[in-house]
Amino acid sequence: MNSNTPSVVGTDLNPEKIPAHVAIIMDGNGRWAKKRLLNRIKGHEKGSEAVRTIVRTCREIEIPFLTLYAFSTENWQRPKSEVTALMSLLKNFLESEKTEMLSNNIRLNAIGQIERLPEDVRQTLHKTMDLTKNNDGLRLNLALSYGGRSEILRMVKQIAKKVKEGHIDPDSITSELVSEHLYTGDMPDPDLLIRTSGEVRISNFLLWQIAYTEIYITDTLWPDFGKDEFVQILKDYQGRERRFGRTGS
Ligand code: IPE
Ligand code: IPE
Ligand code: MG
Repeated sequence: MNSNTPSVVGTDLNPEKIPAHVAIIMDGNGRWAKKRLLNRIKGHEKGSEAVRTIVRTCREIEIPFLTLYAFSTENWQRPKSEVTALMSLLKNFLESEKTEMLSNNIRLNAIGQIERLPEDVRQTLHKTMDLTKNNDGLRLNLALSYGGRSEILRMVKQIAKKVKEGHIDPDSITSELVSEHLYTGDMPDPDLLIRTSGEVRISNFLLWQIAYTEIYITDTLWPDFGKDEFVQILKDYQGRERRFGRTGS
C-alpha cells in the first residue's frame, strides 16, 4: 500500500476520506457511575480506559490529529475531591501511556491553561511532551483546563500587543492570523466533532475552530464508547457532503 494512504484494515472505511482531525467531548463518566451506584470517580477511571481504546484506534486507522476534551476551564468549579481525582488520573494516564506513545510514534500535545494544573501534573505533562516531540505519527492533543473563550481572549491580547508594538497593521489581520494565535495554531481545524452522552451543546470547546466541523452526538456514555461505534461514526462522516456554504454541485 502507498505509504500516504491511511491503513483502514479491518474496517470498511474509505482510506481517501479519513478525517485529518477528530475532536471529542468525552462526556458521561458521572452518569455511567451513577447508573451503577458507584462514585463518580469510578466513572472517570473507566473513562480513561476508553481514552486508551480510542487513541489506539486513531493510530490504527492513521487519523493524524485527535483532540480530547479532558478538563474544561469550568470544570475547576467541581468539588475539590473530584478535581483532585481527575488530576491524579491524568498524571497516571501520562505515566502509564508514555511507553506506548514512544513505541507507537505518538506525539503528545496539550492545549489550555496548562499553568493552572498542579505542579506535579505539569511536570509529567512537559516531560511526556518533550519525550515524544520528534514523533510524527498521531498527534494526541489533550485539552486541559481548556476553554474556547479564554483561548480567544488570549489570542486577542497577543494580537493587540503586536499591533500596539507596531508589528502588525490592524488592516492586515486575517482569519489565518487569528488561527495561528490559538493553541491549535499548527493544526488543521477539526473535520469531525463527536460528543458522547447525548448532550447537544458545545460547552466552550474549540469555538473558533469548529466553524465548519461536522458534528456527531451519540447517547453512549464515554466509558462505554469503543472502537466499533467510533468506526461507525467515521463511516457516517464519510457519507456526508461537506458544502462549506456552496451548492452541492
Ligand atoms: C466527563 O464526564 C468528564 C469531565 C467533564 C471531566 P462528566 O464527569 O461530565 O460526566 P457527567 O456529565 O456528569 O455524566
Ligand atoms: C464538557 O463536559 C467538558 C469535558 C468533557 C471535559 P461537561 O460535563 O463539563 O459539560 P456540561 O457542564 O455538561 O456543559
Ligand atoms: Mg458532563
